[in-house]
Amino acid sequence: MKTAIYPGSFDPITLGHLNIIRRTAQIFERVVVCIMINGEKDTAMFSPEQRVRMAQRVTERLPNVEVDYFNGLLAEYSKRYDKPVVVKGLRAVTDFENEFTMALINKKINPELETMFLTASEKYTFLSSSAVKDVARHGGPLEEFIPIEILDDVRKIAGKGKY
Ligand code: PNS
Repeated sequence: MKTAIYPGSFDPITLGHLNIIRRTAQIFERVVVCIMINGEKDTAMFSPEQRVRMAQRVTERLPNVEVDYFNGLLAEYSKRYDKPVVVKGLRAVTDFENEFTMALINKKINPELETMFLTASEKYTFLSSSAVKDVARHGGPLEEFIPIEILDDVRKIAGKGKY
């Protein structure tokens, strides 16, 4: 089965991420959305469990999409699958340099690993999890940025004022 791994922090998952997931699910037989956890240095607003639950909730109607998490290197994680392809979304040229470097490093660690890029839908080129967190922290409107299923969670957690 041809598997795509869509890795990210997903802190939180946005409509832009969901757009990439849906399109990847039309191309590959199986899509694994992998929430990468940065160990002790993880400065995420949402805990790994919260990020996994939110990603599961927004993808539950997509039959060939599953959600996983991993604390470590993506290139190591990818060895669990048979010749998987890493899929990343590119919003602008500014994303490219970083993504290109990561793809090369991943390939050095796991030479079988290919990375493919999907261009973000123009509707979402402005969107990032960081922007969502900023808006959420200040109690701004989130409807156009994140899936409806997680609106309450994001508002509640961001509203606690810890960040
Ligand atoms: O959503 P993000 O924060 O842009 O995702 C970046 C992510 C998590 C995909 C990237 O940092 C990653 O793959 N982290 C796992 C650690 C790793 O494999 N690092 C080596 C690549 S330089």
